[in-house]
Amino acid sequence: MNIILLGPPGAGKGTQARKLVEDRDMIQLSTGDMLREARTSGTEMGQIVAEVMDSGKLVTDEIVIGLIREKLEGDKKGGFIFDGFPRTLAQADALEELLAEMDETLDAVIELRVQDEALVARIVGRSTCGNCGEVYHDLTKPIPADGECTVCGGTEFKRRADDNEESLKTRLMEYYKQTSPLLGYYHVKGALRSVDGLADMRDVEAAIAEVLDA
Ligand code: AP5
Repeated sequence: MNIILLGPPGAGKGTQARKLVEDRDMIQLSTGDMLREARTSGTEMGQIVAEVMDSGKLVTDEIVIGLIREKLEGDKKGGFIFDGFPRTLAQADALEELLAEMDETLDAVIELRVQDEALVARIVGRSTCGNCGEVYHDLTKPIPADGECTVCGGTEFKRRADDNEESLKTRLMEYYKQTSPLLGYYHVKGALRSVDGLADMRDVEAAIAEVLDA
């Protein structure tokens, strides 16, 4: 099963993708994570990617499609979860072609619906485990009092450079201009399913499971 998790910054795509990896042995393909890795490479490309990401704008289609193409060549396990990709119509077309080349199909596009006001609170309160990437939130999922990650026991936690109100405004603008047209695109294809991303994390998980098991 191959699915896309679609939604604005902070909608919960990464949180839900990690759960699906755990429960269904799927593979999370997060272009945001891939780009964060690329920016530490010390190359000129890494430097450009870092500047674009920190501003909240989108990295070029060419770069992200190239990153996804490389990852699709490996083991498919329980299927792919595309997290943060596609983000433009050109990326959506490229994904369709890549899957067709592999004789794979897209089974569902799950939209996580969350109002903008809630996104600011989610983004500014977010941190992740520096070792395994588990996602935390100051209010809704705090780092345990003993300072150890619940998944791996790691003790280093990070905040993202683009997790501030200024970058978030640009990220939201990019979402509405470039990514939200994909909702119509996948609706017409009959693949779009929407879940309430504002609900409690476990309720969101259950709603996604319902879509996947239908
Ligand atoms: P990316 O890393 O993809 O960031 P994003 O889309 O902005 O999404 P986030 O990771 O911020 O949020 P999320 O939806 O995963 O939420 P999370 O689960 O963490 O992209 C970063 C940048 O890279 C882009 O701006 C762009 O520059 C570039 N880029 C990436 N992909 C690209 C592409 N395809 N093309 C071009 N450029 C690209 O949750 C957020 C917080 O809320 C957490 O603290 C979590 O604990 C909490 N939370 C989650 N669910 C709930 C819930 N149900 N209730 C309460 N709290 C919750």
